Amino acid sequence: MTVAYPRKFRNQLSAYDILSQVVKNREIHMITLNRYRFNEQRSCKDLTNLIEVLNGKPRELVKELSHHVKDEANHAEWLTDLLYELGADLGTPPGVSYIDNFERLLGYSSIQDQETGMIEALAAINVTEKRGCEYFSAHIKVLKENPSPENDKIRATLERIMPEEAGHVRWGNRKLAEVAKQSPEHYQKVEQAKQKYVAIEQAAYESGMDVLGGAELRRVDNLLKIANTLPLWERPQYLLKSIPDALFDGELQKTRLDLLQQSWQKDPAQFFQNLLPMFLSGELSVKKAK
Ligand SMILES: [Fe+2]
Ligand SMILES: [Fe+2]
Repeated sequence: MTVAYPRKFRNQLSAYDILSQVVKNREIHMITLNRYRFNEQRSCKDLTNLIEVLNGKPRELVKELSHHVKDEANHAEWLTDLLYELGADLGTPPGVSYIDNFERLLGYSSIQDQETGMIEALAAINVTEKRGCEYFSAHIKVLKENPSPENDKIRATLERIMPEEAGHVRWGNRKLAEVAKQSPEHYQKVEQAKQKYVAIEQAAYESGMDVLGGAELRRVDNLLKIANTLPLWERPQYLLKSIPDALFDGELQKTRLDLLQQSWQKDPAQFFQNLLPMFLSGELSVKKAK
């Protein structure tokens, strides 16, 4: 069976590499925590929608999902309290949102029936939970290496959330394995959904992080990878719907301009030496922290 795991950002930087840079800059650190808060909050909304779509069936899944919503609401609460205590922003975080990207990429594909919809929802939840776990455990490790009163507080909150997220991943793995066991057709459906959502998640993750020059073309490359996981007859339609948005993304341009402007105001010399060439060439300047 496919082991569905998120890959590194553009196969180069691990969550640990990225977070090692993030914790060095308080402003970016707070934005990152606020993004976690936002994602937890949003997942309550998404899980509630799923419960409504299922409309009582299967009963066991509905029950388990209601517990899941409660967990995610707790995580959002703990992160909100933390950000409040640290005096940080509680509004919608700036930049391109991972969840919005994920939903946009999802929206281009069609789902045939309720059972497939349920399998796809489980696969989608599972792969995003894995990304969450990867980030939280890397974040905890980096905070352990950089102790301070503030970092210790942040670490305590993440350590409270982490075991529950690991539990969500195990739950998703178990549910998908149960469905796959029902028949060879179910096995096939589960396999296909896993591959599809790993590709979608990776594309969403990368388009949220990648604002460098040439990002649009890399997005198209990721869309081709998603299309390859779909049935043959769905591929042209998926690409026709998704490629224009990848190429003409106003949000991406805005994020780029904001970033360039902020960096220009902070340090014009650094802007010309490092950031501008990096944007133009699409190369990453964040050094691998090992
Ligand atoms: Fe969570
Ligand atoms: Fe979770």
